[in-house]
Amino acid sequence: MQENLKTYIDKYKQIISDKLSSSLHGLSIPGRLKESMVYSVEAGGKKLRPILLIASFDAYGNDVNKAISAALAVEMIHTYSLIHDDLPAMDNDDFRRGKPTNHKVFDEATAILAGDALLTYSFELIATDTNLKPKQSVDLITMLAKSSGPKGMVGGQILDMEAEQHPVTLKELEHIHTLKTGELLQFAIYAGAYLGDATEEQLEHLKEFAYYLGLIFQVQDDILDVTGDPDILGKPVGSDEGNEKSTYPKLLGIDGAIEQKKSYVQKAKDALTKANAQSSILMDLTDYFSHRDH
Ligand code: IPE
Ligand code: IPE
Ligand code: MG
Ligand code: MG
Ligand code: MG
Repeated sequence: MQENLKTYIDKYKQIISDKLSSSLHGLSIPGRLKESMVYSVEAGGKKLRPILLIASFDAYGNDVNKAISAALAVEMIHTYSLIHDDLPAMDNDDFRRGKPTNHKVFDEATAILAGDALLTYSFELIATDTNLKPKQSVDLITMLAKSSGPKGMVGGQILDMEAEQHPVTLKELEHIHTLKTGELLQFAIYAGAYLGDATEEQLEHLKEFAYYLGLIFQVQDDILDVTGDPDILGKPVGSDEGNEKSTYPKLLGIDGAIEQKKSYVQKAKDALTKANAQSSILMDLTDYFSHRDH
């Protein structure tokens, strides 16, 4: 990884982790619920969505404080989605972020409620952020609700489950991933640039960038599920095959999936250039997303 990208990622990963912890530890809520929320949030994770949000803000704006509550919110929603995704009724996975999954440490009911709590608390964070103008809060909440809800991530999760055990076309697979993973990544990119006062035209091109970045992210997630090292990944490999998931490698083979990823990378970079963000850290993050090993 390039040194400046690594410094950037490390810096914001630390800032976001600290702020996530302090915002949860400060809550007066039932003890076991708090423990379960804190467990998954502090279990690790790359913090890619908040980092993307801040990188996107940085491409257009200054005063990064405006971007913090949205960055925390998107990570909380992402963490909730993982807690639920790992439940026995969904992917039934025992490890996440290098640790036993939430329901293994607590119990299923607590894991479900910790997820619910992270989801709803994320909206409270944005609504009560005094760095934001009221219109900005409402706009962000609207965007975040759309991208994480039935038209976004939750919609994608059900399509993903329905696509188990029957073959899908590449188009269908792209659609599932756009919803399941792409929407939250798109929120991160769009919200950052919106808060940084990017123009309408720049925002439109960023949507296209985000679309391809989401696909790059998911192809790599699928590839890593086949070729990754579970110790580095912090989650088991072979989960997709076990669940008879429709994935890029299953559809195109590993080499085909890698080729497909290259074509997405080119399209993402073209869109970024059109959005006037060609010299931003988002360009380096695109390569990082494509080559990540965890
Ligand atoms: C994994 O997301 C789940 C998907 C959405 C495919 P990440 O790879 O960003 O997971 P963490 O946050 O680093 O654990
Ligand atoms: C998870 O996708 C996506 C969401 C939680 C929205 P996966 O099921 O492919 O993620 P992993 O492989 O368990 O991390
Ligand atoms: Mg899943
Ligand atoms: Mg899963
Ligand atoms: Mg996966």
